[in-house]
Amino acid sequence: MKKMTKTQAIHERTEKIIPGQHSNLPGYELFSPVYITHGKGSRIWDIDSNEYLDFMSGLGAGILGYGHEEYLDAVKKQLDNIYYMDPARRSPLEIEVAEKLHKYVPSAQRVRFLLTGTEAVQLVIRLSRAFTGRNLFIRFDGHYHGSMDNVLGGNVNTDLEGPPYGFDMKGDIFATLGRDPHALRQSFKIPWNDIEFLKKVLEKYGEQIALILMEPVNCNGGSCWPKPGYLERVRELCDKYGIVLCFDEIITGFRMGLGGAQSVLGVVPDLTTFGKAIAGGIPFSAVVGRADIMDLMTKSPKVICAGTFNSYPLGLAAANATIGILEKDDGALYKHWDTVQARLTEGFKEIAVRHGFKMLLQFVRGCIFYQFADLTVAHNMGDWMPVSDHVRQEKLRSGLVEEGAFIIFRGRWFVNSSITNEDVDLALEMTDRVMKRIK
Ligand SMILES: Cc1ncc(COP(=O)(O)O)c(C=O)c1O
Repeated sequence: MKKMTKTQAIHERTEKIIPGQHSNLPGYELFSPVYITHGKGSRIWDIDSNEYLDFMSGLGAGILGYGHEEYLDAVKKQLDNIYYMDPARRSPLEIEVAEKLHKYVPSAQRVRFLLTGTEAVQLVIRLSRAFTGRNLFIRFDGHYHGSMDNVLGGNVNTDLEGPPYGFDMKGDIFATLGRDPHALRQSFKIPWNDIEFLKKVLEKYGEQIALILMEPVNCNGGSCWPKPGYLERVRELCDKYGIVLCFDEIITGFRMGLGGAQSVLGVVPDLTTFGKAIAGGIPFSAVVGRADIMDLMTKSPKVICAGTFNSYPLGLAAANATIGILEKDDGALYKHWDTVQARLTEGFKEIAVRHGFKMLLQFVRGCIFYQFADLTVAHNMGDWMPVSDHVRQEKLRSGLVEEGAFIIFRGRWFVNSSITNEDVDLALEMTDRVMKRIK
């Protein structure tokens, strides 16, 4: 009889007690179970000592890669031991990190810290409602804003006869059992990068909208960039109708630069969320924004932002260490990262072409997206989704895992800054072999 691997043995134990994957959005069930014991740079090892290249990077949180010594030392140096905060006592690290965000992020007149991206988005919704006295918000197809009932999934709605709520219907991969039936009636879900459509929605409903919520570059929907002038026009419309504009920079933040996408694209939102990479993989998030909105948390009656772990010292120390490394030597790490990532994207494209595949490839630093599709650019998810060969895309993903490299399903790669030319060359050799097999 074939001996059971350690992975099979631990998986049997796990399945008996733990119901489903620890984060169970659809798609992750495509992966066979792998139990990781440790990592270094862009490489990880499982309990059976198999080595993998990792292009999932903790879903983008691990911006510095694994076992980054400077980061670990900096975190340890800031904390003699783990200590706890409560609302009556604060850590001096809190102002250090807040001042860094204030320095780099154009919208950060005020800063507050929480634990996860999901919570940060919910605080933004509450602040916007309090500020405007309105209830509805607008979100967009392909944009992800966390796992709460009011932002998870819902199909895009282009019917302007009635309010364009995003209904939970067939084909919505984020449909969840147990959702409050009213939750999707808090927001409209419309196509992104389509200013004429947004204008029409606002002509009808502008006075009822508290917030427009979007990823400034739509990383979750295919690393789609805003069309020239789109964000500027959205900004003008928000000003015209008195709507709060929030950029959800939970992916773009610290990846596109220390000031987020807004510092690259030159449009300043009223509120911004940061999470994932902000603390190099330790749970931490932030909401930053305009003083008059954020100060609603200090007035009476006020906007409540409560949390046992808000501004906890380990998260603060980790954020301080991460930003410290990213800002060092005038952002030298970003320059190195760009060079190595370009080797990967150019090589990947060249291999696809050589094997006769038409490929869409678009990216920001650290978040690459591809599909087998005859497109040079996609402006939103609606552009690539109907014309992509999803079966071949999944064959490439699972083939890469067999070869020893993890990428995310639906064509996404999170490339962290520890990636080396050697890692890239290895990944390209694997890609070449898999593409040959899936022709
Ligand atoms: C843009 C964006 N916003 C919000 C979230 C939710 O963050 P978290 O998973 O930390 O709750 C995510 C997570 O993937 C995200 O990509």
